[in-house]
Amino acid sequence: MERLIFDAHAHYNDKKFDDDREQVLSALPEKGVFAVVNNGTDYESSLEALKLADKYEYIYAAVGIHPESVVNMDITKADKYIEQIVKLLQHKKAAAIGETGLDYYWDIPREPQHIIFEKQLQLSASVNKPIIIHDREAHADTLYYIKKYCPNGLLHCYSGSAEMLKEVLRYGNMYISLGGTVTFKNARVPVEVAKEVPINKLLLETDAPYLAPVPYRGKRNDSSLIMYTANRIAEIRGMTVDDVLKYTKENACKFYINCNA
Ligand code: NI
Repeated sequence: MERLIFDAHAHYNDKKFDDDREQVLSALPEKGVFAVVNNGTDYESSLEALKLADKYEYIYAAVGIHPESVVNMDITKADKYIEQIVKLLQHKKAAAIGETGLDYYWDIPREPQHIIFEKQLQLSASVNKPIIIHDREAHADTLYYIKKYCPNGLLHCYSGSAEMLKEVLRYGNMYISLGGTVTFKNARVPVEVAKEVPINKLLLETDAPYLAPVPYRGKRNDSSLIMYTANRIAEIRGMTVDDVLKYTKENACKFYINCNA
């Protein structure tokens, strides 16, 4: 089977994979998976993400601090946390900074989220590594930072409008990734976005173990299920599934690892 799936964003260190992580990961290539960028959410999980990347040739790591992680942090020591991430970035399989961003859905203090997100944007520019941005119900402020830093970035599991999309793509070198939500029955905005996003700016992701596409909605997600998301996007755009997979793989390669797609 030709390996055309590039999963731009997953969390394989999640405890939902504790019972069978090795089996799931080693089966991915035979199911068509070319590469996965496995994301950390704090220092410890970023370190774990690098360990998995060491073990599997097709797995890369993103190392960074997620907005939800700020609840466990002393933000006056923000620079120390960033220093830890800088060290992890030396690893040859560290493909990006992430995941980071803003989350206003959960009741998390906003000021520390802003501090740690902004520091990671600055880091991304200074070490020249792409950054993976989480935006949950924080569209205006996320856009503010994208305009301010013009990052080489990925807005993952994009949930904004088609209008915001146009704005986002005007700044820096931004990519958009779509996941299982585009297959959901009530999906309206993701479908519109799937239609509108320029094909050279689109990546595919799982956010595994979360957000499995239909017909696996509610179950544990893994990178092989990207086929269902790709199928739906092909249908929406009037393209072949193979083309959707090829373009998104090429884009992800360019964005993350400079591989030959
Ligand atoms: Ni995520």
